[in-house]
Amino acid sequence: MRREIVHVGAEQLIYEIRQIVGVAHEIAKLGKDIKWENIGDPVEKGLKIEPWMKKIITGLTSEDKSYGYADSQGVPAVRKFLADMANSRDGAKAAADDIIFFNGLGDAVAKIFGFLKREARIIGPSPAYSTHSSAEAAHSGYEHLTYKLDPDNSWLPDLEDLRNKVRYNDSIAGILLINPDNPTGIVYSRELLQEIVDIAAEYDLFIIADETYCNVVFPGVEFTYINEVAGRVPAISMKSVSKEYPWPGARCGWLEVYNRGEDEEFNTYVLSLINAKRLEVCSTTLPQLSIPPIMGDKRYLEHIRVQSETLAARAAEAYSVMKDIEGVQVILPQGALYFTVLFEEGVLNERQKLEIPEPDIRAFIEGITAGSALDKRFVYYLLGVEGICVVPLTGFCSALKGFRFTLLETDDKKRTGIYTAIADRVKEFLASSK
Ligand SMILES: Cc1ncc(COP(=O)(O)O)c(C=O)c1O
Repeated sequence: MRREIVHVGAEQLIYEIRQIVGVAHEIAKLGKDIKWENIGDPVEKGLKIEPWMKKIITGLTSEDKSYGYADSQGVPAVRKFLADMANSRDGAKAAADDIIFFNGLGDAVAKIFGFLKREARIIGPSPAYSTHSSAEAAHSGYEHLTYKLDPDNSWLPDLEDLRNKVRYNDSIAGILLINPDNPTGIVYSRELLQEIVDIAAEYDLFIIADETYCNVVFPGVEFTYINEVAGRVPAISMKSVSKEYPWPGARCGWLEVYNRGEDEEFNTYVLSLINAKRLEVCSTTLPQLSIPPIMGDKRYLEHIRVQSETLAARAAEAYSVMKDIEGVQVILPQGALYFTVLFEEGVLNERQKLEIPEPDIRAFIEGITAGSALDKRFVYYLLGVEGICVVPLTGFCSALKGFRFTLLETDDKKRTGIYTAIADRVKEFLASSK
């Protein structure tokens, strides 16, 4: 090329949750049946969409308005519905114009980081949901800035670490948090959220709260929305229909912007996100139209309750299978769709392996594990032996080693088999070379 055309952040665009799929497909070609435990798609794992929701969506497909463009920010009546929902809580308020629809939160993340001034950094949790960490890193051209989630403190954020990084790095303009968190499943208490907001207030930062899983909170766990504690701090909440209905294929997510009026710079930034959406015309119309009739239906709350209870029971199942394994640490999730297993410091080495009976699969796995991160090594061997596809924790912008699998398998027998096989293989792997 006459000019270099590759963006300075291009090599940061790594999404391990999907990357591992390529390896799994190679193993499938060699005859292994793959159990997909890498991605948070409940539909892929056999979840049946509620017939009453399908009926509403089917009804919408027979209305002409579903086939047109929507307003760039989203259908006004739907934005009003969502603003009313947000405003039913005590706290910072949103107007319909503070709601901005995107083609899934993946699209929103790309815009949020893509239209942020290059020198302005967002600090986020580690382990991190990699769409955020990769997009932030790609936007800045540097490694993503992170604060620690501490496994020795139930995966809660190390606020000392966060405060110090914010204090000594004045390029930090915002704090990202994910609540309930992916991958750890932890839910932030009101006090903790308040402390994060206080740090933001002290250093004149804005907050991005990814609340994708706000309706996937396990029984007995109290959930606090960011607008309940934001006070006057500029904040963006991210929400989506992907994990709730669930309808990830709708590609329908939205931002709720709070306290736009409190800061001119923040307001201008939000306007740039809206303008970016205008260039694209709009986001998907039909899924937006489904929100008031579905989320406003009295059956919705019951749906959310049952779904969360089911996931909580599976989390408890996974916990009981994993909790006594020597060399790993597990924390019972409080929400979301995932379970994370952490290898204790020093238990992994590059000699550990699992016996793979099929010579071609063994050769393939031995080839790709050379030089890879030690948790990825386990993940590859697990794929080779059991065909179980999980995601290494080092793929979540983390120096900690471990892996994440989902709580989504609907077939009880199959799920118990998967969890037991994972536990057995962890033990075997760790024992193969101490
Ligand atoms: C924390 C978090 N944020 C955002 C997303 C993206 O969701 P969407 O389907 O709306 O793009 C996901 C998907 O897994 C997620 O886990």
